Amino acid sequence: MKAVIWTKYGSPDGLQLQEVEKPTPKDNEVLIKIHAAAVSRADTEFRRLKIPFPFSLPLRLYIGLFKPSRVKILGTEFAGEIVQTGKNVTQYKVGDQVYGYTGLGFGTYAEYRCISEKPTELAGVMSKRPTNISYEEAATVPFGGIEALHSFTRVKVKQGDKVLIVGAGGSIGTYSVQFAKLHGAEVTGVDSGNKLEMLRSIGVEHVIDYTKEDYTKNGKKYDVIMDTIGGSPFWGSVQSLNENGTYLNVNPKMKHMLQMNWVKRGNKKLLTWEAGYSTENLLKLKDLIEAGIIKPVIDRSYPLEQIVEAHRYVDTGLKKGNVVITIA
Ligand SMILES: NC(=O)c1ccc[n+]([C@@H]2O[C@H](COP(=O)([O-])OP(=O)(O)OC[C@H]3O[C@@H](n4cnc5c(N)ncnc54)[C@H](OP(=O)(O)O)[C@@H]3O)[C@@H](O)[C@H]2O)c1
Repeated sequence: MKAVIWTKYGSPDGLQLQEVEKPTPKDNEVLIKIHAAAVSRADTEFRRLKIPFPFSLPLRLYIGLFKPSRVKILGTEFAGEIVQTGKNVTQYKVGDQVYGYTGLGFGTYAEYRCISEKPTELAGVMSKRPTNISYEEAATVPFGGIEALHSFTRVKVKQGDKVLIVGAGGSIGTYSVQFAKLHGAEVTGVDSGNKLEMLRSIGVEHVIDYTKEDYTKNGKKYDVIMDTIGGSPFWGSVQSLNENGTYLNVNPKMKHMLQMNWVKRGNKKLLTWEAGYSTENLLKLKDLIEAGIIKPVIDRSYPLEQIVEAHRYVDTGLKKGNVVITIA
């Protein structure tokens, strides 16, 4: 089968399309023919091993000390079709269309991937996919969609609440905007200038270009501030919350976690990331997408052969919503 082999840490040209052996499912696994895989910011961060301390060293030990050796194929989000099942598999059959997230199992930049019917990888998750969208669209749902859905089950948003989303134009961000709207919020989206028009097109009422304006200095208050990227000014964000407001950082750095313990919070709630990777959540997303309530935002799609170009594009920071590769 064709797969993109990750040959070195660093620039995208270390991603090489090669012919490798097609995997065979174990008794509890299914073999998926992957039709599309997302190319996320996290993929590019793994590629460069630009991962914040204290995760960088354990990840390097896990992936390979000097070059990727244990993990050979990047990519974590996929949509595809089951083409073979192990003899103990009960939940899926050949022909089922699925989507999922392989977490630290990686391996979705390939024509085929085996996965346990109940994924065992850290954060791994899989379910049948929504049928009213394309494979490309479906491949972008598992990570950003779950982060957004899980966040808005933890943060209680009421009709008319003012919700500000930092990194609103990204993968987690575009799904989060839609969940905030679903709960009746008035949404402010913070991102860089080229994403703002897209944000208005998905219903964001107010937009702020973070490269030009600091939302913590405009005197406005919010009921919820959700940071998808870990780039929000922490003290200023807490000051910008209404009295009973909630600050949620789904991508906290070590300093944010320490700051959260020190700040005087009063009635304000300060939350950090919590894992929401469950089949149940993927199935909820399937239902919401099939009901037309949630819709993936796709910026660009590249064939597998252009994986280097896809990574270069995501590296530019211009990505709006999601980028995918299609695998013929
Ligand atoms: N996708 C995954 O599988 C995965 C897994 C684990 C962790 N994560 C982490 O979760 C974070 C968010 O993921 P994502 O996939 O949603 O990323 P994304 O699609 O790249 O979205 C992040 C958005 O935030 C914007 N941004 C950057 N700094 C900002 C700031 N200070 N204020 C406001 N906006 C800012 C970016 O714009 P510019 O680039 O133009 O600045 C971009 O539009 C990433 O750090 C990623 O590493 C992702």
